[in-house]
Amino acid sequence: MQNQMLAEDIEEVLITPEQIKQKVKELGEQISRDYKDKDLILVGILRGAFIFLADLVREMSIPVKTDFIAISSYGSSSTTSGVVRILKDLDDDIEGRHVLIVEDILDTGLTLNYLVKNLSSRHPASLEICSFVTKEGKQKVPIDLKYCGFRIPNIFVVGYGLDYAQEYRNLPFIGTLKRSIYEDEGHYRLT
Ligand code: IMP
Ligand code: MG
Repeated sequence: MQNQMLAEDIEEVLITPEQIKQKVKELGEQISRDYKDKDLILVGILRGAFIFLADLVREMSIPVKTDFIAISSYGSSSTTSGVVRILKDLDDDIEGRHVLIVEDILDTGLTLNYLVKNLSSRHPASLEICSFVTKEGKQKVPIDLKYCGFRIPNIFVVGYGLDYAQEYRNLPFIGTLKRSIYEDEGHYRLT
């Protein structure tokens, strides 16, 4: 019921629940092959990655540990500044371990760029990134993704963990919002 009401705010579905399920399965299998016999820790970036990470670990067939880091990249302003703050750090020590960062969406890349630098300084055995979605042509800094689920055009999307003003994360698909939802909001950015 709630989901149906939320769905009314959606302009277009870009990635369906079936496509999501299939892709998460593929990624889970691939990561399980690549990290077989390795001490793997998945680091989910809060809050957006929590749904993807929860689905991903259930498609993995190898032992895996999880940890989370919460960072703020946008603040109240409408454009990414590149100024990133750690709101909640990892609980575990990652030195000598194989770390895979799990992100919901790669946009400008500034958040991941900061995070890669920060986590590298803790001397993991390896450090790679898995982003569920990547926006085409939007990156301001080069980001080397080991795994990427989907590439989408440069548009704002919600659902499957992605929010607008902290809502819509629970939609089981990824889609665009109707213009009427955000047109009076000064802090919103279209691109
Ligand atoms: P970046 O530093 O610009 O790459 O920002 C990445 C973060 O911005 C993601 O982790 C999301 O939280 C957020 N973000 C970027 N694009 C979107 C979008 O289209 N919808 C929802 N959140 C987004
Ligand atoms: Mg995020």
